[in-house]
Amino acid sequence: MASFQTLPGFRDFYPEDLAKRTHIFRVWRQTAAAFGFVEYDTPVLEPLDLYRAKSGDEIEGQLFSFTDKGDRQVALRPEMTPSVCRLVGERAGSLKRPIKWFSIAEFYRYERMQRGRGRCFFQLNADVFGEAGSEAEIELVALLVQCHRAFGLTEADFYVRLSDRTLWLHYLGSLGLDEGRIRMLLTAVDRFEKQGDDAFAPYVSAHGELPAELKAKLLAFLGIRSFEALEAALGGTAATPAIAARLADWRKLLGGLESMGLSRFVQVDLGVVRGLAYYTGFVFEAFDRKGELRALAGGGRYDDLVAKLGGPDLPAVGFAIGDMTFSLLLQERGLAPQISHAPDVYCVIGGEAERRAAFGDIQRLRTAGFKVEYPLREVAFGKQFKAAADSGAKVALIYGSDELARGVVKLRDLADRTEREVPAADIEASVRGFFEGP
Ligand code: HAM
Repeated sequence: MASFQTLPGFRDFYPEDLAKRTHIFRVWRQTAAAFGFVEYDTPVLEPLDLYRAKSGDEIEGQLFSFTDKGDRQVALRPEMTPSVCRLVGERAGSLKRPIKWFSIAEFYRYERMQRGRGRCFFQLNADVFGEAGSEAEIELVALLVQCHRAFGLTEADFYVRLSDRTLWLHYLGSLGLDEGRIRMLLTAVDRFEKQGDDAFAPYVSAHGELPAELKAKLLAFLGIRSFEALEAALGGTAATPAIAARLADWRKLLGGLESMGLSRFVQVDLGVVRGLAYYTGFVFEAFDRKGELRALAGGGRYDDLVAKLGGPDLPAVGFAIGDMTFSLLLQERGLAPQISHAPDVYCVIGGEAERRAAFGDIQRLRTAGFKVEYPLREVAFGKQFKAAADSGAKVALIYGSDELARGVVKLRDLADRTEREVPAADIEASVRGFFEGP
């Protein structure tokens, strides 16, 4: 027999896996709603051009793309950001600002597989449009943190590394570098953590050897881990007006997060620059504290993208959390939910005549919201009792011919195995009484 397996990097979700995923999505949804974000969705398949030259080389190289039967070049979405920019851009005139939107959706990237990375994965995306100040970043970092804390994760489990592409540009510009060199160096900085010195190879082949003094400065800037060190590196009181204004944005952001009691979750870290091409300002990534997993989440400001995709000028900032690393972290911390598919009630049914009586009750109980199971086929009483116990149900209703002849049904508490007779005419009241207590 031919056997078919999922494609590499794709996942089947058996019921117990899907229940865990659904739980995560439910909590993320509730959390985003509590922060005043509203939910949207977009198509899985998009025109290829939506991602070309917008998401950046890395994602472009990972696209699942093909030509459809109408000769259109299309791609499975690798991320949400260009799509949400299109939606917001099209209605920017009529949407009330700030626009705070979120989505939970599946994405596809032809990536090298590793722990916590696949070729299809889900993300929670949350974005704020129409707010140019770092108030938007405060809102988003706070939401990102809460999306973790809502599961019981603490500052000992995860943290958010906060960086700034604007300051990187100012800094590299102040070293006398042109735009082409700056762009290549930022890519190198992004890859430095994973690749070490190899990250500079593309720069070296394009622009020649990296002067030792420049490299030392870059590595020092990359190593900055506090706001004070950042201020000092940028010239302190001698900073240019542009840099001074930017440092004021930092103060506002860090101050806001401190007032929310979130400082312990946030680390200044100029080592983060983010691989995606469209970021223009603050960027951030969430990681597990032990540093064992790939990034949990990433985001930042992208003020030019809505306009680049044909919309109006609209400042924007947002992030996405992926489900794969997040589930691994919950699992490792023992915080994955205990999922039960057990029914509330299991009906044990004598024969065909009793089945007719039971069916009316089953229908009524299910309509009232109880989870009710029964054997689809007639089987021996003994087997049914075993099935009732195995199902994890709290209570069994036993429809025997003698009892029904007397107008009663047996209600058995499956935990303590006590049994009593209840009126067949109003089973719902008895079941309700059992679950709600006297
Ligand atoms: P990203 O850093 O590419 O950002 O992805 C965000 C998160 O999605 C990652 O931290 C990771 O948890 C998850 N993720 C990404 N690729 C994979 C993969 N191959 N397998 C499993 N999980 C993955 C973005 O996608 C931006 N569009 C986020 C954003 C929203 N920026 C602004 N708004």
